[in-house]
Amino acid sequence: MSSLSPPAKKIWWNEPIHKSELLWISLVFVWGMVMTFMMPYWHVVGKQNLGTETYKTTPKAFQATTQEFVDKYTVRTEGPRNYPVVAPPAGGDVYLIARLWEWWPIVELKKGETYRFHLSSLDWQHGFSLQPANINIQVVPNYEHVFTLTPNASGEYSIICNEYCGIGHHLMIGKLLVVD
Ligand code: CUA
Repeated sequence: MSSLSPPAKKIWWNEPIHKSELLWISLVFVWGMVMTFMMPYWHVVGKQNLGTETYKTTPKAFQATTQEFVDKYTVRTEGPRNYPVVAPPAGGDVYLIARLWEWWPIVELKKGETYRFHLSSLDWQHGFSLQPANINIQVVPNYEHVFTLTPNASGEYSIICNEYCGIGHHLMIGKLLVVD
């Protein structure tokens, strides 16, 4: 009898269990317990846990704060759409807007410095995905997510939207610069 054919005996659950099956069930159970244990374990000892600091905000308020941040620290503009490149002081706050379909502004950080990153959306749900570092954060409107970030390598990073947000989703690519 294979596992594809129906059981020959109607009361199949009362058959004696085979040793190999018992072994697999035990292995799966033990591995399941290990994985379950890892969840709280990494929460305590992991060094890359996401902050749980969040605030209620509104698209209007978050846009105003970000605009203030951009007006204060813009050092140049880039590209045909004149994206502001904003270089906040080391250790300072960083504000980043997600909206259909862009990340705004371009942020320039210093390697080895710690920043307080503020993320929110002005319309609906987006996903902040920092490539190639593989950091993923949900970005939702009316909700300001704050986390600390210490870039440990200089270079040009892409921020990709990894939450489907409509026809321009695949074009929603931002930029984060880290300089020495
Ligand atoms: Cu924003 Cu997909």
